[in-house]
This record gives sequence, C-alpha cells and structure tokens, in this order.
Amino acid sequence: MWMAEIMSSMEENEDLDRSKFVGGPESLFPFSSPHNEKEYVYRVLKEVREVEARSPVFSHLSSSLQGLWTIRALKAEERFQKLFDAHQDLHSALNAGQVGLALSYAITLMGTFQWGVRQSAEVENLMISVERVMEYTELEKEAPWETNKHPPPEWPNQGMIAFENVNFTYSLDGPLVLRHLSVLIKPREKVGIVGRTGAGKSSLIAALFRLAEPEGRIWIDKYLTSELGLHDLRKKISIIPQEPVLFTGTMRKNLDPFNEYTDEELWNALEEVQLKEVVEDLPNKMETQLAESGSNFSVGQRQLVCLARAVLKKNRILIIDEATANVDPRTDELIQKTIRETFAHCTVLTIAHRLNTIIDSDRIMVLDAGRLKEYGEPYILLQEQDSLFYKMVQQVGKTEAASLIETAKRVYFSKNYPEVVQNGHLATDSCLDSSSGLYVTETAL
Ligand SMILES: Nc1ncnc2c1ncn2[C@@H]1O[C@H](COP(=O)(O)OP(=O)(O)O)[C@@H](O)[C@H]1O
Ligand SMILES: [Mg+2]
Repeated sequence: MWMAEIMSSMEENEDLDRSKFVGGPESLFPFSSPHNEKEYVYRVLKEVREVEARSPVFSHLSSSLQGLWTIRALKAEERFQKLFDAHQDLHSALNAGQVGLALSYAITLMGTFQWGVRQSAEVENLMISVERVMEYTELEKEAPWETNKHPPPEWPNQGMIAFENVNFTYSLDGPLVLRHLSVLIKPREKVGIVGRTGAGKSSLIAALFRLAEPEGRIWIDKYLTSELGLHDLRKKISIIPQEPVLFTGTMRKNLDPFNEYTDEELWNALEEVQLKEVVEDLPNKMETQLAESGSNFSVGQRQLVCLARAVLKKNRILIIDEATANVDPRTDELIQKTIRETFAHCTVLTIAHRLNTIIDSDRIMVLDAGRLKEYGEPYILLQEQDSLFYKMVQQVGKTEAASLIETAKRVYFSKNYPEVVQNGHLATDSCLDSSSGLYVTETAL
C-alpha cells in the first residue's frame, strides 16, 4: 500500500526538471530521458511486487493449500501449522512506530532522490566544460616558439621586409586571402597600406606575425621568418592593434610585462605619448590595477599605451592598424607625431582608414581582394587617374582631395627635389594654378 502511495507521489512530482535528463548511453544517471525515468520506476516497483508475492506467509499458505492432500496423508498438519505461525509472527513483527518510521524515511528519500537526480544532471552539464578543455588540448599547435636558428639580438638592424610570392589562408581548406604577394619594403620606409574592408590588410600583418603559416617567403633583413621560432620573430615586431586590449594587472605590468625597464624609462615613455598626466592622476600611479581588458581606458588611450610599449621596445619594425573609430583627432595627431619623431629610423607599416594619415608616407600599398594592385610613392600614384589610389582620394570629397594631393606633392618634391622647395612651398607654385598639380610633375619628371 505504501509503495502505491510513493508511486503516486512520484508521478505527481512534476517539478522534476525533466529537460535536464538528457545524455547518451554514457549518461551518469540511469534516466537518460523522461521515458527512461518512468521505465526505471516501474521496473523497481515490479521487483518490489515480486518480493511481496514471494512473501513467506503467502507462499507457505498457497503451497499448503495446494499440497493439502499430501500434508494430510503424511499427518504433517501440526508441523505446517507451526511453520505458518512462525512465518506469521515474523511477518507482523513491525509495530506501528516502526512502520511510521519506515514511511517517513521513504518520503524523505523522495526528496533526496530528486536532489540526486538534479545533481547528476548538473554534473553532466558541467562535464561539457571538461569535454571542451579536452578538445582544446587536441588542437593543432602553432609552430615552435624556439628553433635552432636564432637571429642575433640586434636583428633586424635594417628593417627591410620582403614578401616573395606569398599566399595566405587562415585554414587549410579556406580561400586564399593573400594571393601571390611580392613586395619589397626598404629599411626605414614609412608605408601606408590601404584597400577596402576585406582586402587583406590585416591578413598581411597576420602573415608577417605567422598567426597562420603563409606560403611563399617573407624575409626580414637576412632572415626567412619561417625559419625562426615564433618568440624570436614576434618580439622583434611592435604592433599597435586596431582593437588594443590591456592585461588585467598594473599599468607597470602592461608597459613592461617582463620587468626589463627602470621606472624612469617607463615615465619617459609615458611622457612621450602624453599619458604621463593621466597615469599620475591614477590613485596608485603606475601600480594602479587596470580593469579587465583596460576597459577604464578609451580605445585611443589604450593605443597610446601600446605606443608607449613600442617606444620602450625600440624595435626596428612598427606596425599600426589604425582604429576606425573612437580616436579623437587630437590623439590621432599625437600618435602620428610620435611615430614621425620617435620612429623616424624605423620601418613603419600603417594600415590606414583615413588617407590624411598616410598621404605623406614614402610609399602606398593598395590591396584589393588579396592582391597587390599598386605600390609606389603617393604622388606618383596620384598621377594615374585610373589608379585605385586616385579614385580613393577623389572619394573623400573635393576640398579634402585637393588638400591631400597638395600634401603629396609637397612631400614628393621636398624629398626628391629639395632645391625647388622653399620654406615648405614649391617655388613654382606662384606661377601655377594650384589645382593643376599634374603640370608641375610632368615638367619636373
Ligand atoms: N581569422 C580569420 N579567419 C578566417 N578568415 C578570415 C579571418 N580574418 C579575416 N578573414 C578573411 O580574410 C579576408 C581579408 O580580411 P582582412 O585581412 O581582415 O581584411 P582588411 O583588414 O583589409 O579589412 C576576408 O575575406 C576575411 O573574411
Ligand atoms: Mg582589418
């Protein structure tokens, strides 16, 4: 009778979170679906009923009745009666208190049982994280951090970068995002990289850092990057990423993660990027803990921290992926100025979103759909009205375009024909219509 009660209470307990009873045959809990759960309960109940049916009292009684003639024939009535009495005594040995206790235990068991169900489902859920970690341990590894080919510590002292027929893809079966790229970047050159979104600008940097292994050859000075360990390669190239992320930790740790510089050097670097005052205003100055990913700093300020890090590192190669938004013109100007002054002797690749930051570069690289379309001095590229670069300049609007062309012209002449430039202006300007820059070039070339 009490079993029937438990059974019905179980069926009423609909608050059991059945949705959690999922999993394969390896499931930690016997109920892998609501259907299995019921089946399990029925099976247990059936077993209980079988035990009940095999109760010594009932089975003795039924066998006595069936074998009545035999018992009488053998005059064994008394023996069977005694046996029946003994079974009967045992069967009704529990008093009311004990029955009550058993019942209350059974009911408590129901709660514990449900809790057990939930816990095992929870364990199963959490095991997904373990499964994921196991999966990560099987991921294909990056190239080794160290190889037996170590460049000298002063490498790269020139800063020459050469791409030789480089193909690049992010996954083995993925499309090529850089195709047959061959380009030579001379030491100390300032190169602006432009192209539409998805043209492969960031991928060019990824190939340089070997975030995936590029096909073809990339030289930095006299070393093939593919032959170096990743640590040797990556620590020699400074980068200001488009989305800079700071570590959780102190400002000091962010600037100098390996404790290589003195406080004075750090303050000087901060001063150079005009972050000194900002850091001095922090409650613990350089020892202030930064929020996660540096979220208490603006994107511009985070880029400045990266710039300060690059100033400290004194690498020969600097790469800047310009932030598309969130950087105010003042910060932008500051970054540009610092780069021009501090990194004058370095090779600087700038992925530009605004043409005015790269119009005075030594060379412009125009990428389109993973291919190098144009590479040359900005002013020369602007002579070609079919060039992609010319079209890009025209797209920014008339006045802006005129001013860009003017700057390109001035830079070109002061570099190649310093004798015709006086006080930063072309000596020939006065006798020319300023919009006909082309004319000057044609005669000058
Ligand atoms: N991590 C990545 N995994 C796979 N494909 C990527 C990844 N990053 C970029 N790509 C693909 O590479 C191409 C070039 O992207 P990207 O170099 O980021 O362009 P850009 O920086 O010029 O806007 C795009 O087609 C893009 O879909
Ligand atoms: Mg990009």
